[in-house]
Amino acid sequence: MAAPVTIRILGVGMGPHHVTPEVAEALRTTDYVLAADKSGDDPLLALRREIVRAYPGPAGPVEVIAVPDPQRDRSAGLSTRGYESAVTDWHDARAAEYASILRQRGGRAAFLVWGDPSLYDSTIRIVEKVRALGVELDYDVLPGISAPQLLAARHRIVLHEVGRPVHVTTGRRLQEAVTVGLDNIVAMLNPAPERLDLTGLQDWSLWWGANLGAPGERLIHGRLGDVLPDVRAARTEAEARDGWVMDVFLVRKPR
Ligand SMILES: C[S@@+](CC[C@H](N)C(=O)[O-])C[C@H]1O[C@@H](n2cnc3c(N)ncnc32)[C@H](O)[C@@H]1O
Repeated sequence: MAAPVTIRILGVGMGPHHVTPEVAEALRTTDYVLAADKSGDDPLLALRREIVRAYPGPAGPVEVIAVPDPQRDRSAGLSTRGYESAVTDWHDARAAEYASILRQRGGRAAFLVWGDPSLYDSTIRIVEKVRALGVELDYDVLPGISAPQLLAARHRIVLHEVGRPVHVTTGRRLQEAVTVGLDNIVAMLNPAPERLDLTGLQDWSLWWGANLGAPGERLIHGRLGDVLPDVRAARTEAEARDGWVMDVFLVRKPR
């Protein structure tokens, strides 16, 4: 019987400079990296290639197998249930693609996870789906620096006040958190600010960051109602500089 495929799920932070020694060592000793290719000209795939090139093994950088990413229903009007079902279908399709490559190639494979695998990343779930499709595999997970950690470091803040909680959610669910009384919230996976519901948050403090760790990095802090126009402009600048934009922010109710 063939040996199980070994899979390493590697958190790579926000770029080559965040790769920890243990992730670098894992990269040097893997046979190939599987990476989703969202468009044929995917800037995040290019970043993954850059990371691999920065940590070559004895025979040079490990091979990156770009796997065309199945289409996902991204309609703006999807309900939360519709969104979740679109994501499940997309993960199933991704798992099927990866399973077919892993069956053919076997050996030691790695996935490079942007940031840390524990936050808004589905690689662990997808690898479990691959296993459920009958691929014999073992896997482990190595951590990386996540976007909220980098946001806090750049702004030189703690994400919560002494002994108090922080809630991490998505931009889409921000108002849900506000409605139940949460008052110190990190939001990720955000649409552009004009499509974000910021009702009632004008007086809250905002710590915002886009493209953290990249040349287009932008940071803004202030009363949300005052700095929102700056956020819009900075988001546009970050995208113009890097060819992609992702932002994360902390909002806190005034005390
Ligand atoms: C799919 S999630 C991945 C999160 C990642 N696993 C982590 O640990 O941060 C993508 C979201 O993370 C945040 N993010 C990722 N990279 C970022 C960056 N360089 N600058 C700002 N936010 C980032 C954004 O909110 C983005 O929409």
